[in-house]
Amino acid sequence: MAKIFENIDCLVTMATNGKPAKTGVEMQEIGLIEKGAVIFDEKIIWTGKSGDAGKFITENGINIEERVNCSGKTVLPGFVDPHTHNVFAGNRSDEFARRLRGVSYVEIAKEGGGILKTVKATREATIEELTEKALFLMNKAIQYGTTSFEVKSGYSLTTNGELKQLRAIKKAAEQLPVTIVPTFLGAHDFPPEYQNNRDYYVDMVCNEMIPLVAEEGLAEFCDAFVDEGYYTVAQGEKIFRTALDYGMKLKVHADELACVNAAELAGKMNAVSADHLLFISDDGIESLKNGGTVATLLPGTSYFIRMPYANARKIIDAGVTTALATDTNPGSSYTVNMQNILSLAVINLRMTAEEALAAATINAAHAIRRSDTIGSIEKGKYADMQILDYPSYTDIFYFFGINHTESVWIHGNKLF
Ligand code: NIG
Ligand code: FE
Repeated sequence: MAKIFENIDCLVTMATNGKPAKTGVEMQEIGLIEKGAVIFDEKIIWTGKSGDAGKFITENGINIEERVNCSGKTVLPGFVDPHTHNVFAGNRSDEFARRLRGVSYVEIAKEGGGILKTVKATREATIEELTEKALFLMNKAIQYGTTSFEVKSGYSLTTNGELKQLRAIKKAAEQLPVTIVPTFLGAHDFPPEYQNNRDYYVDMVCNEMIPLVAEEGLAEFCDAFVDEGYYTVAQGEKIFRTALDYGMKLKVHADELACVNAAELAGKMNAVSADHLLFISDDGIESLKNGGTVATLLPGTSYFIRMPYANARKIIDAGVTTALATDTNPGSSYTVNMQNILSLAVINLRMTAEEALAAATINAAHAIRRSDTIGSIEKGKYADMQILDYPSYTDIFYFFGINHTESVWIHGNKLF
């Protein structure tokens, strides 16, 4: 039994024809089919011109159980959000209000607020509460077209607490049909207990946390916040070497607050992605390119904490594969909405509409090493798609600030 989207005014397939992602000028090519159709069950069976669909159906004896008329509509791959902190407890709207009165994000963190405030609340939360919050956030995100997520731990900073967060991610994943990729971020900040004994905590991450996380198979990636005032390059490298030994892939929160050459480390260690990059150096850009590391840009963070925007033009034009993500978290980017991120990307990162869409779909899938199964509407991939309410993909940028996603389909089933 199969389904068909037919008479699609604007079908954006994001086809790569076998490549894992789009880089440089390739990001302009979004695999557009006008008056297109998609035949699918759990996976994509066929894409092409709507006028040719009938012949394919007859010749292959396909039984169509549901026809969706997409006249006047755009069909896109579901968005992939490759950087979220969707498992946490508590609320920092009070800090946000203070920031609006002029206190900076870094000042609040120095007073013991910021990440550590969320750490306190997350330590106190039960696994059920954390799972429920994660489900709430992801269900909201799905309504704006996201069908896959990376989710990080990192708000407990104790062995049991980090395991609790990762188990909550697993429980949430069992209750949602979407793709969820878990990341261990024990090195998000230093816990209050070890502020003055930082290397001791790094050893705990390496000798205690990573082995247990690996043993339980709770994380595919290991991440660390390598930045001014947080983890040094040497501490990050030690953690990453251990993670690699335990079979994890790497992600890096890199050069967000200052240039500490975290991107150089990411490239050198062939990290799958380096994220943030507001202060990346030219050598850092070169290193990402040489390391095959995806630059994941998070313009929601620059917006929300009033920081400069990453130099996306330089990064893309240098030939670094570039993705976009929300960075959903209670302190520096409290949004789940990838359409917001697309708006910020075209206006403030100066990306083209086509680049932004490639970055939010196929390249984002590559940033979580899933572009073989998701990220584009191509034969054999999961039927993760969204129908938008306008006949051109440019309307999602042009008519900004409203939700353009009319329906979301995950593994071929309509979710809402
Ligand atoms: O990705 N950069 C570090 N971590 C988060 C912020 C977390 C927070 O403020 O709670 C980020 O921006
Ligand atoms: Fe983050």
